[in-house]
Amino acid sequence: MELYEAIKKRRTIRDFENEAIPSEIIERIINAGLQAPTNDHMRDWHYIVIQDKNTVIKLLDIIPKGISDEDMEQLLKDWNLSDSEQQSAYRNAVPKQHKMLMDASVVVIPLLKQKTDILHPDNISHLNGFASIWCSIENIFLASTAEGYACTLRVPLGDEDKYAKDVLGFPNDYFMPCFIGIGKPKKDASIIKQKDINVKDRIHWDRW
Ligand SMILES: Cc1cc2nc3c(=O)[nH]c(=O)nc-3n(C[C@H](O)[C@H](O)[C@H](O)COP(=O)(O)O)c2cc1C
Repeated sequence: MELYEAIKKRRTIRDFENEAIPSEIIERIINAGLQAPTNDHMRDWHYIVIQDKNTVIKLLDIIPKGISDEDMEQLLKDWNLSDSEQQSAYRNAVPKQHKMLMDASVVVIPLLKQKTDILHPDNISHLNGFASIWCSIENIFLASTAEGYACTLRVPLGDEDKYAKDVLGFPNDYFMPCFIGIGKPKKDASIIKQKDINVKDRIHWDRW
């Protein structure tokens, strides 16, 4: 698939078919992740690729399996989500947080080695490792798209990352930025409408 086509086609999918992904394709996808730009030339990234359903069940046990209507309304208020399109995107995505990863063919946990306290950086460069792993994550999304699959992701809330460390046994100095689910989109999978933004409105030639 041509690059611009993959960029255009990549969309977050949260409704997956029950279909395994061949290991060699997973390897190609993760290898694309490993070729992302890196801040320190080390690419000290690891990827835990979980296919075993019992491990997935255990890993996701801490993630809420749904949300009541009242809690959803409260969340929209607490997060100050007043835009109606944004609200409907959250109404679609929040209830699926557990199921989307449960139904994905594979759950991938990307890991970066974090030498400083990521929540209290002294300066922006202390976040370079974190920025780099997100480049790797985008490569994984684009490669998955090019292979005919789709991705979803969840940023861990509360103690979900500590819990994942216990379940998966990764070392203490590795940090998990998100859960990734990869799978074949269901035929009727929702694709959430995004804002239509004209590039001409966002480019500032020479100065703002
Ligand atoms: C940094 C980041 C954090 C995100 N966190 C979540 C999340 O916790 N749960 C989720 O379902 N989607 C999450 N998403 C996916 C976004 O909801 C999605 O990318 C956005 O709606 C744009 O849609 P698109 O990916 O289809 O273009 C996250 C995306 C990014 C880049």
